[in-house]
Amino acid sequence: MLSKKIETALNGQIETEAMSSQFYLAMASWAETEGLNGTASFLYRHSDEERMHMLKLIKFVNERGGKALVPALKQPPRTFKDINDIFAHLFKHETQVTAEINRVVDACLKEKDYTTHNFMQWYVSEQIEEETLARTLLDKLALIGNDKGGLYLFDRDLEGLTASERPR
Ligand code: FEO
Repeated sequence: MLSKKIETALNGQIETEAMSSQFYLAMASWAETEGLNGTASFLYRHSDEERMHMLKLIKFVNERGGKALVPALKQPPRTFKDINDIFAHLFKHETQVTAEINRVVDACLKEKDYTTHNFMQWYVSEQIEEETLARTLLDKLALIGNDKGGLYLFDRDLEGLTASERPR
């Protein structure tokens, strides 16, 4: 059975994952309208993954005797400056998500809720993958600079990449 504290912390995490999904959906949609089709595919998939992260939490909360809250969400940004702006936002957002996950893990230890602590380890590993990928993509973009050919290849390579995968 979940304590109220942990239930509240997990419901906060449900909201974060839902917000991430909306944020990446907004980025995907923007990228699609800019002709960045590989980037758009990657971000649409990333948005789906975040929804899956949210669903996993909703089911866990309900299975453990709590009540999952489906949150209201704020309007994400409609436009972005360029592709660098997209990945800078994504990296910053994921580091914030990591900090929130760490807070939930910390609350589990304080409450001696080892079941939820164990459940949250999946999210801890996932964050390592996602942050590494976002950092690698930002580094690649910095190398490419204004080279149009490089950007074309970067976008094409993103076509088949998922958020928790490492790029070659
Ligand atoms: Fe659900 Fe991107 O972490």
